[in-house]
Amino acid sequence: MTNTVRSVQDRIAQLKAEKDICILAHSYQGHEIIETADFTGDSYKLSVDATKVTNKNIVFAGVHFMAETAKMLSPEKHVYLANIEAGCPMAEQMEPELIQAIKESEPDRKVVAYINTTAALKTVCDVCVTSSSAVKIVSAMPDKKLLFIPDCNLGSFVQKACPEKDIMLLNGGCPVHAAVTADEVTAAKAAHPNALLLVHPECRPAVSEQADYVGSTSGIIDFAKKSDAKEFIIGTEASIAEHLQFECPDKRFYLLSKKILCPNMKMTNLTDVLRVCEAIGTDEAKESEIIMSDELIANAKVCIDEMLRLGG
Ligand code: 13P
Ligand code: SF4
Repeated sequence: MTNTVRSVQDRIAQLKAEKDICILAHSYQGHEIIETADFTGDSYKLSVDATKVTNKNIVFAGVHFMAETAKMLSPEKHVYLANIEAGCPMAEQMEPELIQAIKESEPDRKVVAYINTTAALKTVCDVCVTSSSAVKIVSAMPDKKLLFIPDCNLGSFVQKACPEKDIMLLNGGCPVHAAVTADEVTAAKAAHPNALLLVHPECRPAVSEQADYVGSTSGIIDFAKKSDAKEFIIGTEASIAEHLQFECPDKRFYLLSKKILCPNMKMTNLTDVLRVCEAIGTDEAKESEIIMSDELIANAKVCIDEMLRLGG
């Protein structure tokens, strides 16, 4: 670590204490940001963590829907997104009107929304899931007929794990994970024949079906740390392979594909976190604050509460 990074981190720590700030960082963030965070992990863990924060201010290092979820779970707090431009393209893929129309034509089909959705879309959904909780939550639902949005790859992973359900899928998904091909799996396995393949369920079925383990960001990290194996091919955002290599220097981590870099997750840097922490308490902070009406929070939060109830 350079002296500059350390001095920025020290200043962030000082501002956190002075301004009563809690930092939540998704595991796809860079190591220097993760080191400043009070809570880190996958999107499910961060949702649960957001309910436990006692500070007045939350700075989120991640993408927009994650900060929006934190705001819904802690509406009395000020929630800031470290880089307000950082969104998740998948979250914007479907309009509430489309889902509303399907619900009207099939009223007995419950709508399961991946948490990577806008608050507006969540208002027409029955329950949220994350990649780590989707199978558990869908299994716990009494309903057989479901519509799973927006990620058809995660949706088909859930359908395989829950064959008793009738899950309708639409054509959405993560452009980063869905870009990985079965040919890249073949090439990576040939290059590293002793490595286990760990992939995120946002990858296409042709990729996930060849994996030794399919799970969320935190699931992949836990699996690799606990495994007796020494080599792993990582099929999720490149930062996870970097974090694992740092934490497990005796093991080897290879990237499944050079394409798995999320430009939105990479938009935030340590300087953004510092800038927002400096701005809190001034007018400048308003540019980074998540503002939602009470009505939107009340309507969108129903399916997040249901996620926490069924996933807990
Ligand atoms: P996790 O549920 O693993 O945190 O995934 C979030 C995400 O955006 C993956 O691309
Ligand atoms: Fe969205 Fe995919 Fe980036 Fe995750 S990796 S934030 S799902 S675009």
